[in-house]
Amino acid sequence: MLETKRAALLDALAARFRAAYGPGPMRRFFAPGRINLVGAHLDYNGGDVLPMAVDRGIYLAIRPRDDGVMRLQSLDFERVVEIAAAAVGERTTPALGWAGYPLGVWRGFHAATGCARGFDAVFAGDLPVASGLSSSAAIEVVTALALDALHGTRLGGEQLALLAHRAENDFVGVRCGIMDQYASALGRVGHVLLLHCAGPTWEHLPFDPSAGEVLVLDTRKPRHLAKSGFNERVAQCATVHAALRASGKDLPHLAHYDVADLERVRTKLDDLHYRRSRHVLTEMQRTRDAAVALRAHDFRALGALLDQSHASTRIDYEVSCAELDVITDAARACAGVYGARLVGAGFGGCAIALLRPGTAEAVQASAAAAYRSRFGTEPTFYLLRNGTGPVELD
Ligand code: GLA
Repeated sequence: MLETKRAALLDALAARFRAAYGPGPMRRFFAPGRINLVGAHLDYNGGDVLPMAVDRGIYLAIRPRDDGVMRLQSLDFERVVEIAAAAVGERTTPALGWAGYPLGVWRGFHAATGCARGFDAVFAGDLPVASGLSSSAAIEVVTALALDALHGTRLGGEQLALLAHRAENDFVGVRCGIMDQYASALGRVGHVLLLHCAGPTWEHLPFDPSAGEVLVLDTRKPRHLAKSGFNERVAQCATVHAALRASGKDLPHLAHYDVADLERVRTKLDDLHYRRSRHVLTEMQRTRDAAVALRAHDFRALGALLDQSHASTRIDYEVSCAELDVITDAARACAGVYGARLVGAGFGGCAIALLRPGTAEAVQASAAAAYRSRFGTEPTFYLLRNGTGPVELD
């Protein structure tokens, strides 16, 4: 089913490319989206996270040009962009819209390698956009891989991730952590990435597809407050980190303190800052425990940690919402569900349920019914499998 859909998407991508740019050779690339099992809002706090590349993402058809002009289209957005290399500034502009992501990568690649060729490109995706599955990281990573391949620069996975991350931080201006770009660039079939964001260093832990599957529960609630809410959380964590450092224990990252350290400065913090940092410190322990559970193939223990993570993001970090709570509660009540939690930044968008293979259909029906009766709208579901990292397609 997914294979048929993917073939149709690739046909549509090729047809649009030829219609827009004429016949001739083109190369096609793919980079995956990601879910994160545990480790919510830890990457920008120097913590450990457990993302997994999935079998959906962003596809790119591309052909180099020698005049330094870049032309970009997408099957998912109406806006078409044409821009000369010299006109790409230090920051994106509203006129560039979605094309700010690939152009940010081009700018970083140009700065790092001196390569200045332009390109004609069409993008397409089979991930829901802006709902917590890292479509923006996938668009950045697929662009980095394509530029690398077109210029023969032989960048490694981490360099692709860094180009992608810098594009998002510096060019697009979103102060996200490194998790999404590393998860996409370093994805490996049959594995979850245990990423220690403080290094960063990482290892791949096996994820047995015969033991567990991931069902994405898309509330389709737009993440209106995501940007301001995200930046507020980053600032709140920085405030607590400063208080902890001032208390005499100077560690480089908030996630590296423990709950006892937090208790020592509790009187200096208001309730909100106390709860924000309690989430960070307890979530760090949950990620460590989840790595142990994964190594032991213990999906029950892993699922319980997903549930605890959701509760902590709801109560202490306050990035959940009624839609995410209702849909994860409904999933948790179903047979075969090990655990469920919101995915990505929160504030709307998607949640995931970790479940026993073969149970997805029943979970979907039951969660949809609960959601419909509360909100009167239909959620969408995607059964995801482990995916590869970024690749060139034949
Ligand atoms: C978004 C950000 C990531 C990470 C998550 C929360 O997806 O892009 O860097 O902070 O939120 O875990």
